[in-house]
Amino acid sequence: MNKFVVLRDGYGETQLIVKEKDTETQSFLEVLPFESIIEVKGTVLSRPKGMENKNQKTGEIEVSVEKFRVVNKARDNLPFNIREFQKAKEPLRMQYRYLDLRFPIMQQNLRLRSKLLMKMREFLINNHFIDVETPTLFKATPGGAQEFIVPTQFPGQFYSLVQSPQQFKQMLMAGAIDRYFQIARCYRDEGVRSDRQPEFTQLDIELSFTNVDSVIKLIEDLLQYSWPQSFDPIPMRFQKMSYEEAMENYGSDKPDVRFDYKVKNCTDLFKINTKLASEENFGAYFISFPKEHANLSKQIKDSLQTSGNKYERAKLIQSKIVSTSEWLNKIGKLLTTQLASRFVEEYKIQDESVLFLAYGNKDEVLSLLGKVRLEYVNFLENLGMTIRKKGNHFLWVVDFPLFELSENSNKLQCVHHPFTAPHPDDMSDLETNPLKVRSLAYDLVMNGQEIGGGSIRIHDPALQKRILEKLNIETDSMQHILDMLGSGCPPHGGIALGLDRFLSVLLNTASIRDVIAFPKNFDGRDPLSGAPSSISEEEQRLYHIKSVLSPKKK
Ligand code: AMO
Repeated sequence: MNKFVVLRDGYGETQLIVKEKDTETQSFLEVLPFESIIEVKGTVLSRPKGMENKNQKTGEIEVSVEKFRVVNKARDNLPFNIREFQKAKEPLRMQYRYLDLRFPIMQQNLRLRSKLLMKMREFLINNHFIDVETPTLFKATPGGAQEFIVPTQFPGQFYSLVQSPQQFKQMLMAGAIDRYFQIARCYRDEGVRSDRQPEFTQLDIELSFTNVDSVIKLIEDLLQYSWPQSFDPIPMRFQKMSYEEAMENYGSDKPDVRFDYKVKNCTDLFKINTKLASEENFGAYFISFPKEHANLSKQIKDSLQTSGNKYERAKLIQSKIVSTSEWLNKIGKLLTTQLASRFVEEYKIQDESVLFLAYGNKDEVLSLLGKVRLEYVNFLENLGMTIRKKGNHFLWVVDFPLFELSENSNKLQCVHHPFTAPHPDDMSDLETNPLKVRSLAYDLVMNGQEIGGGSIRIHDPALQKRILEKLNIETDSMQHILDMLGSGCPPHGGIALGLDRFLSVLLNTASIRDVIAFPKNFDGRDPLSGAPSSISEEEQRLYHIKSVLSPKKK
């Protein structure tokens, strides 16, 4: 009998046929482990009629083997086979990532990533941007993410790995590199999530003499230029929404606007119950889903309640409105029955709809309902309903607040970073009502995920000093920035796109790990080598981590 072998490389698969008479190759193949590297010479033949494989790119042909050589035999019993059927679990695949990379999906993701980055570079270089590499060993930046610390041979002194090239790109502006970009590696010591890695890549951009609209247009043009042809085209210009509008209607600063259900404000009705609404910054909001999207099973109800319980200052009520009278009863306990019927009338609440209502601290209420909105829709879609519009959707969120209050200490902290310029129209509030001040920051949201963010920067050293002081950041530690701004620095602004996140959303992968060749695992460790690992006592002494000499071993 003829024997068939599938030959695979990074580009695809081809079927080999070893004829019955070639007993030597046939018996050799029988004991040859999967994944061995072989060299074959043969003749390309059309497959017999009816034997074509439509699922294979080369499914119409096969190679009749004439010469066969094993170049490098794989060991027996590799940890897993390259088969979609009963695919190994992610931890094992990550441990042997070089094998995992052989799966067609990883090949496709990494090859598309390379092409896309090439187009982005091409666009920027054609538009007179200069690719500049900046250091990754740097000084700790106050505010922002937790950083990785690098011990040095200077006792008690450490480097920090950069969270992003933010300070360097601003210094490049002062250095007359007026259009900069870099595909930059960033490090943040934060918990790993499906959309977050401790080590990730940004397309980092900065330019002099610019404004919000120019940066926005630049990124729209860049995405248009580099957009892969195999995907449906995107519009020339993207939707824009203020932060306030995003929070008020979607309970999120990265709203998924691929479906219409919005959060609605019913604070006025609740304010009549003065006991409830006595809290400062009180808010009551709800979101309703009509009959055709009403499925409040116990499973989803419990899960949403668990999400809702995480908020200390907001309370969630969820109900399938079997009848408005039943709902009146429920909400009537909070409001008066009269107000409850006004609620039903005013907001046209229909029988058999599902309604989620939250009240309490307005910010928590909105954030809670924003989460419920997504969780409930994900649940419906998992049941097979289509709620979201197909295709990729981009949205700019603008006019962010400059400051927010930190959760624990109630002190001012920046929403983006301390170099973000306040909105010129709000300068008069800077001292008296800082939380009201908007910034010149913008985020790019794709399908409900933040894939980029940036701002116009402060270029006046006096204003920068004032902002640092308001944030309680020691200005001494930022003297290099203040000196730089005072050295004749052009006004400037920029943005960074999270490339891993962008690719992951584009390719609709379960996590950003699927678009990164060698990601860290869920614990933030390198799954291939097990790093981080311990170092010798000698090294510990060299880096002043251990100062006492331990007795030498005999
Ligand atoms: P920001 O911190 O918003 O801005 O980061 C820009 C984009 O980088 C992506 N991103 C991440 N991706 C994967 N893992 C992470 N841990 C992670 N953190 C952020 C996001 C985000 O939108 N220097 C500023 C930019 C600027 O102002 O120009 C900055 O880094 O997609």
